[in-house]
Amino acid sequence: MTALTCRLWWASPDDASPALLGLLDPGERERRERFRAAADRDRYLVAHALARLALARAAGCEPDRVSFTLRCRSCEHRRDRRPEPHGKPLPAGPAAGWEISISHSGDRVLLALTHGTPVGADVEQIAPGRDTDGLVDYCLRPRERGDLDRLPEGRRTEGFFGYWARKEALLKATGDGLSGGLGSVGVSGPFEPAAVVEWDSADAPVQVRLTDLDAGPGYRAALAALCAGPVNAQVCDTAELLGTRRTVG
Ligand SMILES: CC(C)(COP(=O)(O)OP(=O)(O)OC[C@H]1O[C@@H](n2cnc3c(N)ncnc32)[C@H](O)[C@@H]1OP(=O)(O)O)[C@@H](O)C(=O)NCCC(=O)NCCS
Ligand SMILES: [Zn+2]
Repeated sequence: MTALTCRLWWASPDDASPALLGLLDPGERERRERFRAAADRDRYLVAHALARLALARAAGCEPDRVSFTLRCRSCEHRRDRRPEPHGKPLPAGPAAGWEISISHSGDRVLLALTHGTPVGADVEQIAPGRDTDGLVDYCLRPRERGDLDRLPEGRRTEGFFGYWARKEALLKATGDGLSGGLGSVGVSGPFEPAAVVEWDSADAPVQVRLTDLDAGPGYRAALAALCAGPVNAQVCDTAELLGTRRTVG
């Protein structure tokens, strides 16, 4: 079975620069302005600039011809109509057929790109000392809670965010997002090879591949792809991609 190629770009909010602003469309620029914290504005800018540049290169078009439709599977199921479009960004225009997933946390920005196969990526900063007790019930299934409790105390926070990143990657691949419920999907122990163990949803995907990504110390990250075969994750050169915009105002 041929492997699915998934290209990954890792970036940092420090990669933000005025040259990248011109890559955002008016809606993205407005959304960016609404973040109160400069770090949030930078993470958003870098992620969306990367997405436009990577898709433009993949589709062989100018970045301003790449557009997105936003699709929230949870709202579609409930037949909700939220006034503001939200959800999984689906490339449109010349980039139709390509799939992306965006994630940002702390000093990390992550973009995943595939062709023809839905993908979900998630990076989580391991917040040491953060009180995760209240989140454990929301995120973990009883078996997972038991496994987490059995970990040495010093590994529990990382373990928790390992679970979180895997589950969120899966829910971003399907397009459910957090509304799909992190507890609906069960995964292997956070220090075991990544695998989906169970999924309580009538329309859980039949084919799914889950893998951990190396996001460096202090982070956990995961990648999910809705396919049967292996995934070949290729880390690409972010400086080279962003560098194509360095001189543009
Ligand atoms: C979107 C969500 C998955 C993001 O999780 P997070 O850990 O806060 O942030 P991440 O950086 O990992 O991911 C953010 C990206 O996920 C993508 N995203 C948003 N909704 C998505 C969905 N349903 N499926 C897949 N990807 C989604 C977007 O590209 C977003 O990037 P952007 O904010 O720069 O545009 C999560 O916050 C969520 O599901 N929120 C929806 C909750 C909600 O508002 N529910 C009511 C309406 S359904
Ligand atoms: Zn929704």
